[in-house]
Amino acid sequence: MTKFDPNAWWQRDDLCYRDNQLSFAGRDVQQLAHQFGTPSFVYSASRLEANLKRIRQALDAAGLAGRSSIFYAMKANRFAPLLQFFKQTGLCGIDACSPNEVRHALSCGFSPSEISFTATSLSKKDFSELSQYKGMFMDCDSLHAIRSWGELNRNSEIGIRINPGVGIGRACNDKLHYSGCTTTKFGIYREQFEQALELAAEYGLTVRKIHFHTGCGYLNAELDQLDHVIGECMKFVDAAADVRRVNIGGGLGVAHLADDQALDFDRWSAVLNKHFAQRDLHIEVEPGDYICKDAGLLLLGKTFVEQKRDTLFVGVDAGFNIAPEPAYYGLPFQPVPLFIDDLPLSMMTVVGNINEALDVWYENALLPELDKHDYLALINAGAYSSSMASNHCMRGEFSEFLLL
Ligand SMILES: Cc1ncc(COP(=O)(O)O)c(C=O)c1O
Repeated sequence: MTKFDPNAWWQRDDLCYRDNQLSFAGRDVQQLAHQFGTPSFVYSASRLEANLKRIRQALDAAGLAGRSSIFYAMKANRFAPLLQFFKQTGLCGIDACSPNEVRHALSCGFSPSEISFTATSLSKKDFSELSQYKGMFMDCDSLHAIRSWGELNRNSEIGIRINPGVGIGRACNDKLHYSGCTTTKFGIYREQFEQALELAAEYGLTVRKIHFHTGCGYLNAELDQLDHVIGECMKFVDAAADVRRVNIGGGLGVAHLADDQALDFDRWSAVLNKHFAQRDLHIEVEPGDYICKDAGLLLLGKTFVEQKRDTLFVGVDAGFNIAPEPAYYGLPFQPVPLFIDDLPLSMMTVVGNINEALDVWYENALLPELDKHDYLALINAGAYSSSMASNHCMRGEFSEFLLL
């Protein structure tokens, strides 16, 4: 008879079973679920801070202390208390990608000069609103963007988001690649780069930054590719005389499966050191996933357990619409019980309450018999969950809590 593994792979000091009860950020998760109700997202402030500090230390270890910055990609999670907490840490600025995100970041305490803006497909109205924010740095991702920004902000400084034609992302997951084999809308390709520089010059714009974000979720197996991507991007840097800053985007991944290893920051730092140690450049990084994902749990209430043909289904009280990553990108959020007992394990498929075939949280999870369980928690639900939620089937309600 197989029992639940009390040392399951995802456990760490601040997320583990203590006396058989799931503990997160020093709290008993069962009590949190009782107190807060479900569905609820709970985020750990200390884990968020630890993740940010790990990136800071890795930048320092790359020889970039004093000439590197972190801009948190707020698209990953814009919960106001979380942004206010980041502001208090002083560890990062904000990467924003829409006028509303900028307004929200300002309302959470960030100033325009702490915001780096990289968007796609902006309208005239977007450009004119963004022009009000003096001190905010604009990375233009198309000829259209250079023209539109240049008309409103002659003789200023900009960044250019480039597309090196190569990309990086979690293994074998094409949906997470922003550049590579398929032509994408993101950034200016090499063959249009000269034209982009000329266009910038026409408006008196000085190109101070090269920006790229070529994919999401990379882990150790992809670090050689990171080396290659940065190498390709440096060709753009070398072709633009006034560049002083390079933004290498986000994309740092976290472990989702038992076989995933945590990102090796010694190797990550070595890649950055190789490309930037000898160059007089300020380096920016703008992660979202890495900072928030493993700092959040989604607490769900069990609604039923029922065998249908060869599958044992567990129903819960929220569907993929409040945390769409597993359905959209195939990134699993593993379900875990809030306490462990001696009951045998069965394969179960955890499903939500939405009338869509996509609405499967996790297939074939090994879980103990759930008769006595009122709740389940999904791990890795801290990023691209609530921020991407919709009100599909009018089931968009959830609560969020930052645990300090
Ligand atoms: C331009 C840009 N920067 C940063 C990010 C953050 O990426 P991640 O959350 O994978 O670190 C994204 C995400 O898509 C992005 O589009």
